[in-house]
Amino acid sequence: MLWGGRFKSSINELAMKFSSSLDVDIRLIEEDIQGSVAHVTMLAAVGILTESESKTIRDGLSSVLAEYQSGSWKPTAELYEDVHSAVESRLTELIGSVAGKLHTGRSRNDQVATDVRLWMRKVAGEIIRLNENWQKVLVAKAETHQNTMMPGYTHLQRGQPVTLAYHLLVYTEMAERDKVRWKAVLDAVSLSPLGSGALAGSTLPLDRDLTARLMGFSGPTLHALDTVADRDFMLDALQAASTGMIHLSRLAEELILWSTKEWDFVRLADEVTTGSSLMPQKKNPDMAELIRAKTGRTTGNLMSFLTVMKALPLSYNRDFQEDKRLLFDSVDTYSDSLQLMTLMIDGMEVKTDRFIEDLKHDFSLATDLADWLVVQGMPFRDAHHLVGKVVRWCEDNGKFLPELTDTDLKTVSDVFTPDALRVLSPATCLENKKTTGSPNPALISRQITTWKQHLKM
Ligand code: ARG
Repeated sequence: MLWGGRFKSSINELAMKFSSSLDVDIRLIEEDIQGSVAHVTMLAAVGILTESESKTIRDGLSSVLAEYQSGSWKPTAELYEDVHSAVESRLTELIGSVAGKLHTGRSRNDQVATDVRLWMRKVAGEIIRLNENWQKVLVAKAETHQNTMMPGYTHLQRGQPVTLAYHLLVYTEMAERDKVRWKAVLDAVSLSPLGSGALAGSTLPLDRDLTARLMGFSGPTLHALDTVADRDFMLDALQAASTGMIHLSRLAEELILWSTKEWDFVRLADEVTTGSSLMPQKKNPDMAELIRAKTGRTTGNLMSFLTVMKALPLSYNRDFQEDKRLLFDSVDTYSDSLQLMTLMIDGMEVKTDRFIEDLKHDFSLATDLADWLVVQGMPFRDAHHLVGKVVRWCEDNGKFLPELTDTDLKTVSDVFTPDALRVLSPATCLENKKTTGSPNPALISRQITTWKQHLKM
């Protein structure tokens, strides 16, 4: 027990259970010990502890960690309020009263702020690496499918033809923006909270630069009250995880559609699909569905923590303890989803011919025909109207744009010449695209090269 002195009786059983965060924050045990080791090293350096006391405590902390990792010491929520009290109690059992010097000049408020920042630093780095791996798989798939034509959609209605490469590279762009968000999270945890105390620093000559350096932070935070009250980096991480999940959910939904009999565009690998307990023929895209659903959780976690933070007076409040459950859940959900989506795209088989014939039987080159008229000098509004008439003529006569003959076009308007037919071929329509960022195959090939250089593939 860390704080018994002023209490006459011990805590109610339900209150203990209700308030213990051990089950969640035991995950921070390595960071907690890393922080404590830095703290006692510094306490010796400034002469508050003797070198031998400091060493006894450090060795004791290593034993606590080893015991926990080997399973010989199993801290439980009935006994301990949180990871910090569990470690200190076990340390006391192992090394005796000198353990009481560990917490000199420290509060659990700056301790927990330190632990979770250390953890965040490690995890944000991992997520950036997972995103890089995700991007590599996307770029490799895009490279294979530079000529795989497919309809591009708006409103889930066919808009204009594109390639699968063009479509997949959208997710590479999203991942690049996600990486920027996680780098911002890394920046937000670059300073050390340790030495901020409960809220107002310490009267002891703690060397905050030294502890910051020992833990690999670039320096100490500048304002103790702000430090113990700050959870902005968690909001940033919850936001980054939500946005990342939103991105994955969009592709998940597309994969679900693409793998239907109706779309019949892709086949997902056995290792990321499941069967039905009743219908023997079924192959279900469960991972994609779960990613879609779990996006609700990461969005919810962000909303939860925004609600926890709202109107909280300075500085530390026990409300903060709810932060880690949300943060860990969002990070785990996002990192698992990212890895599964990477597997899904990597192993996805594509029916490359699926839309070749299909695109000859739709109106997705209507804009190209309007552009042809514009080049002939017609105002775009008139061109739009005239192509609308061509589409109606096709509908009335049971034809599609790529099937039109010169005579058909002439029937609608004599402004059309045989040259107009040139823009009505799905096979060559992409080569006519001129703008930066368009699906022109030459541009996409250049984009792939640039991504490969950027990602060191
Ligand atoms: N378990 C607490 C948390 O996660 C640690 C800090 C407790 N501080 C306190 N003064 N009760 O926020």
